[in-house]
Amino acid sequence: MYFIANWKMFGSLNSLNSLHKVVNFFKSFKKKKLVKIIYCPPSTLIRPMSKKLKNTNIIVGAQNCHEHENYGAFTGSINSNMLKNVGAKYIIIGHSENRQFGETNKLINLKIKSALKSGLKVIFCIGETLKEKRKKNTKQVLNKQISLGLNKVKNKNKVIIAYEPVWSIGSGLIPKSNDLFDTINFIKTKIRNSKVLYGGSVNPKNIIELKSINNIDGFLIGGASQDPKKFIDIIKKTYN
Ligand code: 13P
Repeated sequence: MYFIANWKMFGSLNSLNSLHKVVNFFKSFKKKKLVKIIYCPPSTLIRPMSKKLKNTNIIVGAQNCHEHENYGAFTGSINSNMLKNVGAKYIIIGHSENRQFGETNKLINLKIKSALKSGLKVIFCIGETLKEKRKKNTKQVLNKQISLGLNKVKNKNKVIIAYEPVWSIGSGLIPKSNDLFDTINFIKTKIRNSKVLYGGSVNPKNIIELKSINNIDGFLIGGASQDPKKFIDIIKKTYN
């Protein structure tokens, strides 16, 4: 199971001091062979975090990139090669917080290709809005996001899907278990052999319900991942 921490636009150098709790927990965790932990901090923290997590089994990832894998005159942007160069092994692409500000399926597709070319593994986010859910358009939306996002992508085995319903992010709401099982299954029929994670308000309480949905391959965790105790609790409770 994957446990991916998405710190979003949170974190200073001081925030790295809390990582030792997770490192120590993971070192002695009996089921560690079953677990993959990936931290995706803001780009400013990738290098120092990678140094701190050297010789641990915890991996570092990035949260987004520019679509050009080469250098260029793109003020304020960072490409996938540059992220790889400072220690990222994975990258989140297509997060709804970026789609919301104009990131299209086409742009996401370019970013995915560029990230794979740079040798990063991709955590590809998809998910429907509340409006789309109410109109019963969830599957249609996901289908489109998947087919356009992964259009002509060759190394699909290096892409993990994260299903994050937009209405569940930061809201405390999670989908009904049956619905979630069904949606994850649907995604798995679209991209065979791919790992599919769930993200959206995952916390130490609702993990009990979420872990019982047996087709989920892990979790993409926002708010709760900033608190090492909550993050550790989520992992422990998944295996209780
Ligand atoms: P929350 O866990 O804070 O709802 O965020 C989920 C998310 O967006 C992870 O990418």
